[in-house]
Amino acid sequence: MNGKFTVANFRQAKKDNRRITMLTAYDYPTAKIIDEAGVDSILVGDSLGMVVLGYEDTIRVTMEDMLHHIKAVVRGAKRALVVGDLPFLSYHMGKYESVKNAGRLLTEGGCKAVKLEGGIEVIEDVKAIISAGIPVMGHLGYTPQSVNIFGGHKAQGKTIETARKILADAIALQEAGVFGIVLECVPYKLASFISERLDTPTIGIGSGAGCNGQVLVTPDIVGLFRDFSPRHSKRYADFGNMLEEAAKSYILEVNHSVFPTEKNSFTVEDEIIEQLRREF
Ligand code: KIV
Repeated sequence: MNGKFTVANFRQAKKDNRRITMLTAYDYPTAKIIDEAGVDSILVGDSLGMVVLGYEDTIRVTMEDMLHHIKAVVRGAKRALVVGDLPFLSYHMGKYESVKNAGRLLTEGGCKAVKLEGGIEVIEDVKAIISAGIPVMGHLGYTPQSVNIFGGHKAQGKTIETARKILADAIALQEAGVFGIVLECVPYKLASFISERLDTPTIGIGSGAGCNGQVLVTPDIVGLFRDFSPRHSKRYADFGNMLEEAAKSYILEVNHSVFPTEKNSFTVEDEIIEQLRREF
């Protein structure tokens, strides 16, 4: 595909049965590298709170945090569709606040779409945001902003009631006009069933290969976030250990005056130093 990836390409990819790829980023260099690698979409997720800011969950992430990181990612992404997460409580205080906050992610942050968590309970907010011309991505299953309701990181949709609820939420989101729905930690047979039932693309994380695309948290796949390793993720590289080794080598070289050498330094005419010695 040439040119920028848009929400229209999301829908077309599902029609063409082409898998959509999405990764998270929170800074300029990471966004630039994964964009150049060819990822379709970059999510500036509120996982920011855990994998970059060191919080235990996503609850304390603010609009200002999101804007700060979305701006950096947008500067690095030339082709991928940048989606910004609406943080906790930024779309639960009435439609006016929801549209205002979603709009800020586009007008100040520069992303092209927003993601929010929940189904029928936030459907009026979703409709209002879309009516304002802002593309919305849904997020169902395990929704991290509800961690205190779920009582921990747990797969969702294992009973007939919860499976029915996820399907009903997905249909409501589709009818409201979302361009994609993240399914997080939904049993893979349920995720496949929902993906078949919908025209809207599903993007899975921990929800199996039957989804129309996949999303993962980049610091997890490169081993930069080492506090824990989610079962649903896969480690493709070990930057964490590489960084630790690099830092150890640097410390050793500075301690033993191996670094810096003349190659890493700048020169000045000896005459200038001599002049200074005479003066001081
Ligand atoms: O915040 C995030 O990174 C997310 C993904 C896990 C889908 O919402």
